[in-house]
Amino acid sequence: KTKNRVALIGAGPSGLTSVKACLDEGLEPTCFESSDDIGGLWKFREVSEPNRASIYRSLTINISKEMMCYSDFPIPADYPNYMHHSKIQNYFRMYAEHFKLLQYVRFQTAVKHVRKRPDFTRSGQWELVTENKDGQEERHVFDAVICCSGHYTYPNLPLKDFPGIDTFEGKYFHSWDYKGHENMYGKRVVVVGIGNSGGDIAVESSRVAEQVYMSTRRGAWVMRQVSDNGLPLDMIYNTRFVHILFQLLPMRVLNWIGEGKLNAMYDHTMYALKPKHRYVVLILTMFK
Ligand SMILES: Cc1cc2nc3c(=O)[nH]c(=O)nc-3n(C[C@H](O)[C@H](O)[C@H](O)COP(=O)(O)OP(=O)(O)OC[C@H]3O[C@@H](n4cnc5c(N)ncnc54)[C@H](O)[C@@H]3O)c2cc1C
Ligand SMILES: NC(=O)c1ccc[n+]([C@@H]2O[C@H](COP(=O)([O-])OP(=O)(O)OC[C@H]3O[C@@H](n4cnc5c(N)ncnc54)[C@H](OP(=O)(O)O)[C@@H]3O)[C@@H](O)[C@H]2O)c1
Ligand SMILES: *[C@@H]1O[C@H](CO)[C@@H](O)[C@H](O)[C@H]1NC(C)=O
Repeated sequence: KTKNRVALIGAGPSGLTSVKACLDEGLEPTCFESSDDIGGLWKFREVSEPNRASIYRSLTINISKEMMCYSDFPIPADYPNYMHHSKIQNYFRMYAEHFKLLQYVRFQTAVKHVRKRPDFTRSGQWELVTENKDGQEERHVFDAVICCSGHYTYPNLPLKDFPGIDTFEGKYFHSWDYKGHENMYGKRVVVVGIGNSGGDIAVESSRVAEQVYMSTRRGAWVMRQVSDNGLPLDMIYNTRFVHILFQLLPMRVLNWIGEGKLNAMYDHTMYALKPKHRYVVLILTMFK
C-alpha cells in the first residue's frame, strides 16, 4: 500500500509551500484553510478576527527579499528589499498561481480534530474532522498530516502583571488589536514590550501622540534592517565567511565586535537599553 493522501492544515506561507512539496513528491495533498483566502497572517484584515493572527496596516517584513523568498520562485525585481505586507501577500498569490496550488485548497473549512485511527499501528492513518462555514462537519481519512496552522493566533495579554488595570481610565489593548495610529492623536501612550511589535508601534504612534513612553523590563539589542553601504543586514552577515568567523573567534571577541557596531548606532547604555544578555546569543539563534 502506498502512503499518499496528505492533509495540510492552513494555507499560509508554510501550508502553500508544503502543498507544493507534496506535489513534487507525487503525493496527493488536500489543504484545509479556515479563512476565505491564502497567505495566513499576511492576509491583512481591517478588523482583527478571533482565532486568527493579526497584523497592522504599516507592517513590513523584517527579512530582505533575497533571504526570504522561496528558492524556486524569485521575488519580482521591482519589489523593494523589505516589503510591505501587501507585497508579501501578492508574492504568495503569484507563487500559488504559478504552481497551480489553489485547486488543492479547501477554503472556509476548519480542521476541528486530528486523531490516530484505531488501526493506526498497522495503517498509519489519521482521522480528521472538518467544519465548513455553515457548521457542517465532515470526516476524512489521510495517510499523513502536516500542521501549518501558525504560531501567532492568540494574543497574550498578561493583565495579572498590571495591578490596578481594572481602575485605569484610559484605553488599553494588545498589539493584536492595533491597526494604525489613528486613535492616538494628542494622546499620552505607553508601549509595553520591546519586541518588533513594540518598536514599530512606539515609532508609529510617536508621529501623532502627545508623548510616547516605551517600557521594557530587560532592555534589548536594537538592530537596523539596513547595514553597511545600505545593504540588508541579513545579506551582509548571513554568509559562509561570517559562519566560519563564528566558529573560529571566541564569543568574547564576537560580542565585542557585534555590540560595538550596535553601540555605534545608538549607545545602548546611554539610552538605558543595554540588556544583561550578550549580543551573540541573539545572533546565533537568528542566523542558525
Ligand atoms: C505582527 C507579526 C509580524 C511578523 N513579521 C514577520 C516577519 O517580518 N518575518 C517573518 O519571517 N515572520 C514574521 N512573522 C511570523 C509569521 O508567523 C510568519 O511570517 C508566517 O506567517 C508563518 O506562516 P505559517 O503558514 O506557518 O502560519 P500563518 O501565516 O499564521 O498561517 C496559518 C494558517 O492556518 C490557518 N489555520 C489555523 N488553524 C486552522 C485550522 N484548525 N483549520 C484550518 N485552517 C487553520 C489560518 O487561518 C492561517 O491561514 C510575524 C508575525 C507577526 C504576528
Ligand atoms: N516584520 C516585523 O517587523 C515584525 C513586526 C512585529 C512582530 N514581528 C514578529 O512577530 C513575533 C512577535 O513579536 P512581538 O513583538 O509581538 O512579541 P515578542 O517579540 O514576544 O515581544 C514581547 C515583548 O513584551 C514583553 N513582555 C511580555 N510579557 C510581559 C509582561 N508581563 N510584562 C512586561 N513586559 C512583557 C517582552 O519582554 P521580555 O523580553 O522581557 O519577555 C517583550 O519585550 C516575533 O517573532 C517578531 O519578530 C515582526
Ligand atoms: C523576524 O520575524 C520572525 C518571525 O516572527 C522572527 O523569528 C525573527 O527573529 C525576526 N527577525 C528579525 C531580524 O527581526
